[in-house]
This record gives sequence, C-alpha cells and structure tokens, in this order.
Amino acid sequence: MREDSLIDPADQDEDDVTLRPKRLDEFIGQHNVKERLRVSIEAARTQGRPLDHVLLSGPPGLGKTTLAGIIAQEMGVDFRITSGPALERPGDLASILSNLEHASVFFIDEIHRLPRAIEEVLYPAMEDYQLDIVLGKGPAAQSIRLDLPHFTLVGATTRKGKVTAPLRDRFGIEDRLDYYTEPELLEIVIRSARILEAKIDDDSARLIAARSRGTPRIANRVLARVRDYAIARSDGRIDLTTAIEGLAMFEIDELGLDKLDRAILEAVIHKFGGGPVGLSTLAIAVGEEPETVEDAYEPYLLQIGLLHRTPRGRMATELAYRHLGVASPNRAQGSLL
Ligand SMILES: Nc1ncnc2c1ncn2[C@@H]1O[C@H](COP(=O)(O)OP(=O)(O)OP(=O)(O)O)[C@@H](O)[C@H]1O
Ligand SMILES: [Mg+2]
Repeated sequence: MREDSLIDPADQDEDDVTLRPKRLDEFIGQHNVKERLRVSIEAARTQGRPLDHVLLSGPPGLGKTTLAGIIAQEMGVDFRITSGPALERPGDLASILSNLEHASVFFIDEIHRLPRAIEEVLYPAMEDYQLDIVLGKGPAAQSIRLDLPHFTLVGATTRKGKVTAPLRDRFGIEDRLDYYTEPELLEIVIRSARILEAKIDDDSARLIAARSRGTPRIANRVLARVRDYAIARSDGRIDLTTAIEGLAMFEIDELGLDKLDRAILEAVIHKFGGGPVGLSTLAIAVGEEPETVEDAYEPYLLQIGLLHRTPRGRMATELAYRHLGVASPNRAQGSLL
C-alpha cells in the first residue's frame, strides 16, 4: 500500500468539512474570482433568477468544491453533489436532475470525466432545462421530453483542457483558481488553527504557510499533523521548534516539497539525464499514476520553476539541480535552462 500523502487529493480528511469556509467573505484569497462571482450572484438574486452555470478549474485543493458550496449558500438554494465518474448511466443523471429544486446548485466534480452519453443528456438540460428520454427499444422506441427545474450547474475540473468544447460552451461563467500567495496561506493557517483550537505562534504559522505548496488543503493538513506532533511530543503548543521538527518528520522540505515531489525531480535528473522524459515514463519511474503526477504534482513544480515542459517531455531546470544539491551538466555547457 502507498503511504499517506499530504498532497494527493485522493487522501480525504475529516478536517476538510470543519475547515471549509461557508460564505464568500470567509473565503480567503482568489480576490478576482470572488468579486466576479459576487457580482453574478448579486445580479441573479436581484432579478430573482437562478445563477448561470459555472465552470471552475485549477489544481487540486485550491477551493473548487468549497466555492461551489458557497455559491449555493449565497444564493440561498439547495446543494447537490456528484462527480463525473460516479455518473455511469444517463438514467443516473436523469433522476438527479428531475428531483432538483428550482434554482438548486448541482455540483459535478471532475466534470472532465463524464461519460460521453451522459454529456449528451446534459446539453439540453443545461441549455433549455429539458431532458430527452428514450423509452423502449428498436422501432417501438419513443422519445419523450421532460421539463426540468431551472438549476445551476457548477462543474469543477483539474483539467480544463479535457472538458469538451460543446460542454464548455454551455457555461456562462468560467473561472480558474490559482495557487495562493504566502500571506493568503498564512491567513488560512491562522483561521484553521482557531477553528481547530490549536495554539500556534506567528513564526510557526508563517513557516507552515511557506511550505504548503500554495495550496489551502495542504496548509490545513500540515497544520493538523504539526499539531498532532506538538501534542504527542510537548504540551500541544506549536512553536518554531515543534513546527520545524514536525515538518522534518513528514519529510516536507524548505520549498514545501514532499517525498514524491523530490522523487519526481530525482528521477528526471538521475534516471533520464535531466530529461526530456515523457509523463507516463516518469510516472512509472516513481510508481504513481500519470494522472496524479500530472494533476497533483507537476503543476506546482512547473509553477516554482523546478520542472520545465517541452514538446518532447519534462526537463529538470537548473533550480531543480540546485535544490537537490546535484551538480548540473547544463551549467558547464552554459545552457540557459
Ligand atoms: N480560499 C480558502 N480559504 C480558506 N480555506 C480554504 C480556501 N480554499 C480551500 N480551503 C480549504 O482547503 C480545503 C480543500 O478545498 P477544496 O476541497 O474546495 O478544494 P478543491 O479545489 O475542490 O480540490 P479537488 O480538486 O481535489 O477536489 C477545504 O476543506 C478548505 O478547508
Ligand atoms: Mg473538490
């Protein structure tokens, strides 16, 4: 079995629910996204109509599911959740849609993984609030059209490029969440510590914020682990010493990278001569699913300039060599990479 990871979105934690902001005002950071949503929500409310369909994209753990819930709260409507892979047959979707209340928010996570047949049911549902159902088979088959309640579809995806064009076109509002800044993460750590009743000083909160890979979910996970460490090893108070020791125990380094991040960089450097190496080859080398590497790990490594994506594959940058303390072959050759 694989070890528990601080980064992998597949590892769920209970704190997620307690720590999740419920209102737009509690949602830290993502200023522009928030303001655009606020305007759309206010306009819809003023006119007494459901909000347009919303597509949210961005790396795991940045708050897409949280925002979907907030949209429902702010609109004062019901919230229904499902995910692309959970919808197997058109009938699954049909029964959810026909049971929605007027103006409900219907959230589909991982919408890029919707089966094709389901997507086709979704098009008229999103556009005209109608459902086409085929009854029977062969020449006797009959198609009937059902009216649906007017609802708001909120779709979330870590891969906007994989959402088909006809589906994308049906969203009136589209926004992308980006990695958080350190001051924003600091605010999140302080807010979460308050909710978890964890005593933490400013320096430790700042350290955790700096090592959270720009991601609120990771900030919360690191905080919870460091708090456990502080409880187990001292009086439960998180000070700089416990924070540093806790982070070291979980093998999170100064850049917030975990073991798999480093394994990816090490593989590119040692096994593939610095790259370029294809994603699936790289994933096999570190024993992970290509999708996990591509969605959860690589975006941050690219963002902070440790990996570089070329048409022929991933390459380690000069900074990656330096971070791992390995002599770079490029420097000697005067390459700019
Ligand atoms: N802006 C924010 N302010 C405070 N906390 C946040 C914010 N965004 C996210 N969080 C926290 O991070 C956790 C993860 O967020 P969320 O589950 O919404 O991410 P996600 O984008 O849906 O991830 P995934 O792609 O893996 O589904 C939440 O439980 C919440 O506590
Ligand atoms: Mg989510």
